[in-house]
Amino acid sequence: MNMISASQEQRQTWNALAQAWEHWGDAFERGASYVSRALIDSAALKAGDHVLDVATGLGEPALSIAAQVGRNGHVTGIDISEEMIAVARRRLGTVTNVSFVAADAEHFVPDSRYQVVTSRFGLMFMPNRQACLLRLRDAMTPGGRLVFSTWSTPDKVPMISLAVGFFVRELDLPPPPPGKPNPFCMADERAVLAELDAAGFGQARCERIVAPFMFETLAEFVRFSRDLIPPGIGAAIAERASPERIAALWTKFAEAAGRFVRADGTVSLPSHALCFSAQR
Ligand SMILES: C[S@@+](CC[C@H](N)C(=O)[O-])C[C@H]1O[C@@H](n2cnc3c(N)ncnc32)[C@H](O)[C@@H]1O
Repeated sequence: MNMISASQEQRQTWNALAQAWEHWGDAFERGASYVSRALIDSAALKAGDHVLDVATGLGEPALSIAAQVGRNGHVTGIDISEEMIAVARRRLGTVTNVSFVAADAEHFVPDSRYQVVTSRFGLMFMPNRQACLLRLRDAMTPGGRLVFSTWSTPDKVPMISLAVGFFVRELDLPPPPPGKPNPFCMADERAVLAELDAAGFGQARCERIVAPFMFETLAEFVRFSRDLIPPGIGAAIAERASPERIAALWTKFAEAAGRFVRADGTVSLPSHALCFSAQR
């Protein structure tokens, strides 16, 4: 059997999705920027800070932080997916105090210490999270701040769970194996606070925010959901249904998602995030 590690599976997944993420990056940021704002507020950034953004994806919140740390500060954004990093580099524009590096956060060896470590929707994809938290703590200066966001439970994050949940129910797809990294595996605030404590972080707290993910039309949200369906789920769907049935199911999905359409035709998907902060 062809076995690959959980991290390599993540790398393949996100490499496969990078082009679609580039296409949908602005639409995603309309909601996700609210989460960045909460993270940046609790990071208490100062000019000159050196910041590590873990699982930076297309470069957020690394790029939003760059302006706050000024010319003497620097942001290093790391991500396991070379394709996501390639998109992030394309989005750099004239920004000079950010570098993007393709690296696995669980094995990354920093060449300096960071005052702040951030991660927006990244830590839940680390298969060995406790080891990763310890490594991040080692990469921080004493008193340094760790800020990161996770998603709440699937019922509170329709922007992600609506399409996946629909196909799981319609085609009776098997649940993911227990313990496998997924967007919702850090939804339990108390469990995450205990993990931070066990990794030696102090003053840990959690702020809950609702990010207003918006789409201009129902058709736009259906395209977003279709383009970003995780490749593993896309493959399971293709195994169980003909292309005609899949097309019909997407039409049925659009009907089901109709309850999120507002009077003006836009789609509103308030999605609940947990924003954690802690100190080394
Ligand atoms: C949901 S995206 C978040 C991207 C970005 N921070 C944002 O909020 O838009 C999750 C990211 O985690 C990255 N990732 C998964 N496992 C990783 C690992 N072991 N080390 C570094 N990055 C990882 C993926 O490649 C992906 O880009």
